[in-house]
Amino acid sequence: MENITVAVIRSSAPEYKEVWQLREDVLRKPLGMSLVNEDLSMDAEDDIYIAISDGKVIGCLMLHSISNTVMKFRQMAVSADWQGKGVGRKLMTKAEEDIKAKGYTTIMLHARQIVADFYLALDYDITSSAFTEVGIPHVIMKKILQ
Ligand SMILES: CC(C)(COP(=O)(O)OP(=O)(O)OC[C@H]1O[C@@H](n2cnc3c(N)ncnc32)[C@H](O)[C@@H]1OP(=O)(O)O)[C@@H](O)C(=O)NCCC(=O)NCCS
Repeated sequence: MENITVAVIRSSAPEYKEVWQLREDVLRKPLGMSLVNEDLSMDAEDDIYIAISDGKVIGCLMLHSISNTVMKFRQMAVSADWQGKGVGRKLMTKAEEDIKAKGYTTIMLHARQIVADFYLALDYDITSSAFTEVGIPHVIMKKILQ
């Protein structure tokens, strides 16, 4: 993990192309879907956290501000080769620290139900019943920043 760095970019940065491809490969292709068919205009409003190893983007997490105190985390993805090695935790923890310093108190996200345990391990609570998004079950999860 020592050689993994975290950076924050906007969608105008050159690394955004790699972020797009990572989301496509990890979050859309396995569902038989493509980002090409989606409205990605919201991306331009987000801070994008990226994990970099050896000059390549291996993880991403997008932060969308809902209000002065509530932040939505979305598009959490780690490349297949790097899953289960702490990259997701590292991105989530860094983003949480940064937004807490900016005065945010609450994080909400739509978690795929099959990975809810990942967010539970990071102290998020399930706050909704299951609903369908991108064709699969999701739950809303929240964390109050202490
Ligand atoms: C889910 C995902 C983001 C987690 O990132 P990761 O780098 O693989 O996870 P980490 O190695 O940082 O794991 C952090 C903790 O969560 C747990 N965890 C990770 N993935 C998990 C999973 N799929 N199910 C249950 N627990 C999981 C780990 O055991 C670990 O717990 P520990 O630190 O107490 O041992 C990543 O595996 C991924 O991109 N998966 C496919 C895409 C996806 O489902 N994205 C989320 C959409 S809501």
